[in-house]
Amino acid sequence: MRKILYPVQEKYIQSFRKKPDNLIKEMEKYAKVNNVPILSWQSAEFIEQLILITKPNRALEIGTAIAYTTIRIARNLKNNAVIHTIELSEDNIKTAKGFIKRSGVKEKIKLIEGDAFKVMPALKTNYDFIFLDADKTDYKRLFKYVMILLKKGGLIVIDNLLWQGYAAVATKIPSKYKASALSIKEFNKLFIQQPNFKTTILPIGDGIGLGIKK
Ligand SMILES: C[S@@+](CC[C@H](N)C(=O)[O-])C[C@H]1O[C@@H](n2cnc3c(N)ncnc32)[C@H](O)[C@@H]1O
Repeated sequence: MRKILYPVQEKYIQSFRKKPDNLIKEMEKYAKVNNVPILSWQSAEFIEQLILITKPNRALEIGTAIAYTTIRIARNLKNNAVIHTIELSEDNIKTAKGFIKRSGVKEKIKLIEGDAFKVMPALKTNYDFIFLDADKTDYKRLFKYVMILLKKGGLIVIDNLLWQGYAAVATKIPSKYKASALSIKEFNKLFIQQPNFKTTILPIGDGIGLGIKK
């Protein structure tokens, strides 16, 4: 259980969840059984709303995993808009390809296979929406590329900025979470203080960072 909200509030919000379609349900089950970290459904629904509000032409995701959020974003993009998504794990790429084929929006998705540190410097397109969701210890370095690739007025969304609640505490961080908690703490300071971004951190799912490039 995440330590962002009290369990009673988690349960309350969960009680309002609308039934997801079969593919989304299958992907959530696959992620749980196979221990693949994917976005919480609450954050995924929030991102879908952001896509509907901002109507990006070109979106970029860093860290596809099994394409859970990729598909949810793609399904809410306007006509002719696309999402590029970067993933380095061969196992995840294989699984993601299978789900993308069945998503009904495969023509909107371009899966870029490789390490984001190598892929991002070579990307020429500017994006109006970027979702950063790779290894937490890499956020600081990946954000440098985000700053370059995001258009003025574009939106950056970053997952896990409260990191199971451990970003906000100084002690008693279990060793499993420690390295990422320290990286996230450092990253959050950098992110919030960006002079050319309007930023905030919201207690949705595992903590969502939002930044608009000025
Ligand atoms: C938390 S999961 C992504 C979940 C996905 N965005 C979603 O919402 O369902 C993180 C993914 O990032 C991938 N990853 C980590 N570092 C990466 C890198 N440097 N380049 C590309 N992918 C990376 C991992 O293999 C993993 O599949």
